Amino acid sequence: MKRLTRILAIAPLVSLPAMLSVPAATAADAPDQTVRQLPEYTADGDLMLPKNFERWIFVGSPLTPNALNGGKANFPEFHNVYIEPGSYDIYQKTGKFPEGTMFLKELQLTLPAQNPDGSRTEPSGRGYFPGKFNGADVTVKDSKRYAATDGWGYYNFNHFEPKAKTAKVRPKDECAYCHMASAKKDDVWTQFYPRLDK
Ligand code: HEC
Repeated sequence: MKRLTRILAIAPLVSLPAMLSVPAATAADAPDQTVRQLPEYTADGDLMLPKNFERWIFVGSPLTPNALNGGKANFPEFHNVYIEPGSYDIYQKTGKFPEGTMFLKELQLTLPAQNPDGSRTEPSGRGYFPGKFNGADVTVKDSKRYAATDGWGYYNFNHFEPKAKTAKVRPKDECAYCHMASAKKDDVWTQFYPRLDK
């Protein structure tokens, strides 16, 4: 109510068409994120779980179900991968992941199996369908801070729910080595994310 009063109070100062006109959105007007969400650390130097990551840019969802991995996949869930939107915009312009880029991979279990291969039959067909969330991994680009792991910091925020609020950096032989060996671009698996594969 208060807000409405304020709007009405300024109304005479602004012409009505100006107040109502909403600029038409075109492809060229794609939002240019000027405000970036940068990594936040605790006083001890642990990474804080990035806020509102579910609103980031979704880039891909690899799936390695148990049934295709001898009954016991390391990650039997969907791996839903997001990139921080400000970093995404810079990457689209420069083709490089800027300092402070964050990726978050949220693990999401498949719904319980109906068929021996772990799949289900749903109205859209037979396959794997997303169920409960199951923890997250985060990577952060900072060439100085993470010089020992090729410029990226690796963090695990639990492989179950709820996700941890903070996490400690992981050593090279736990995470970075594998990304360094086989990820396509700057230790990121862009080969699985068409929006980043350039
Ligand atoms: C044996 C190889 C391997 C190891 C070890 C590994 N990863 Fe990955 N990681 C992958 C692959 C492959 C992908 C591509 C998406 C997928 O399949 O999940 C990936 C994707 C990611 C992503 C999404 C962004 C990107 O780079 O594509 C994050 C974040 C991530 N991993 C974090 C971690 C963390 C944290 C650890 C250690 C706790 C870790 N990874 C260990 C293979 C590995």
